[in-house]
Amino acid sequence: MPLKAELHCHIEGAAAPELVVRQAQKYGKDTSPYIQDGSFVWHDFTSFLAAYDFSSDLFRTEEDYARLADHYLTSLARDGAIYSEIFTSPDHAGKAGLSAKAYTDALGEGMARAKAKTGIEGRMIVTGVRNAGVESIEQAARFAARCGHPLVTGFGVAGDERMGDLEDYVRAFEIAREAGLGITVHAGELMGWESVKAALDHIRPARIGHGVRAIENPDLVRRIADEGVVLECCPSSNVALKVFDSFADHPFPALQAAGCKVTLNSDDPPYFWTSLKREYDIAAEHFSMNDKALAAVTRTAVEAAFVDRKTKAMLLGRLDVKGR
Ligand code: ADE
Ligand code: ZN
Repeated sequence: MPLKAELHCHIEGAAAPELVVRQAQKYGKDTSPYIQDGSFVWHDFTSFLAAYDFSSDLFRTEEDYARLADHYLTSLARDGAIYSEIFTSPDHAGKAGLSAKAYTDALGEGMARAKAKTGIEGRMIVTGVRNAGVESIEQAARFAARCGHPLVTGFGVAGDERMGDLEDYVRAFEIAREAGLGITVHAGELMGWESVKAALDHIRPARIGHGVRAIENPDLVRRIADEGVVLECCPSSNVALKVFDSFADHPFPALQAAGCKVTLNSDDPPYFWTSLKREYDIAAEHFSMNDKALAAVTRTAVEAAFVDRKTKAMLLGRLDVKGR
C-alpha cells in the first residue's frame, strides 16, 4: 500500500453520517431531510451545500471540533496517510456559535491527539466561503493572517463557484499572501476553464482546488504545467456532482500526461461516498496507476504542502524509506 498525503478535505465535510446523527441527537435536531439509511441525501451542488451546512451547524463546542479532527486524521492515518491539510471555515463555526480562535484551537487540539496516536502530520487552511460574501471572506483572511496558530499555514476560498467573481477576492488573498500563508482557491469545478484562468490571472495561487475543467482549453493546460501550479483533484467528488459522467471520463490522466502536477483528495468524503484510500484505489483501477505511480502522486502532494521546510524534509524522508 503506498503512503498517502491529502491536501484538500473540508473538515466539516469529513463528518460521517453516524457522527452527524449523534450530534443531532445531542442538540435535538431532526436529520431526516439530510441523512437517510445512514447516507447523506442530496441531488445537486445546491442541495449538497444545504446538507453540508446543516451538518456543520451540529458542531458547536470545542470538544465537538476536537473530536471531529481527531477522528478524521486518525482514520486517515490508518489508511496509510502521513500528512493531511484540512480546510477550516470560521464562517461555519461562527454560525454554530464558536469564535474563529476557539474553533481553530479546538481543531488543532484534535490534530495533536491524532498525531500522538498515529504520527500523522496535519496543517490547516483557513477558507472563506463564496456564498457568505466578500466581507466574510476578508474577515477569514484577516483571521488567518493574524491568528498565529502554528498549524494554520494556508488560506483558500471555497463554496459556491457560481457566486461572486474571483477578482472580488484579490484583497483577501493579498492579506493572506502578505502574512506568508500558502494560497489555494477552488475553481474549475462547477465553472469552466475560464474560472481557472481567472484564478491564475487574479489570485496567482500555488494550488487550485479541483481545476480539472482546465482540460477544456489546451493552452490553459499548458500554462498550468509551465507554471507548476498544483491541482487538488477530487475524482469521486467530480463524478458525484456530475462534473464528469464517469471515472473513465475524468481528466486526471490527461492532465498528468500534459505535465500538470496532480494530487488525489477526498473533498467531503462521506458526501461523495469516498475516502482518501478509495481515491487511490480509483486511480489504480480507472487511471491504470501502479503503486509506483501512486507513490509519485503522494510525493507531489508533500512537495506542494503548505508546511515548513524541516517537516517537509521529514515527510519526504518517510516516502524515500518506503520507496526503497
Ligand atoms: N465546500 C465544501 N465542499 C465543497 C466543494 N466540493 N466545493 C466547494 N465548496 C465546498
Ligand atoms: Zn473542496
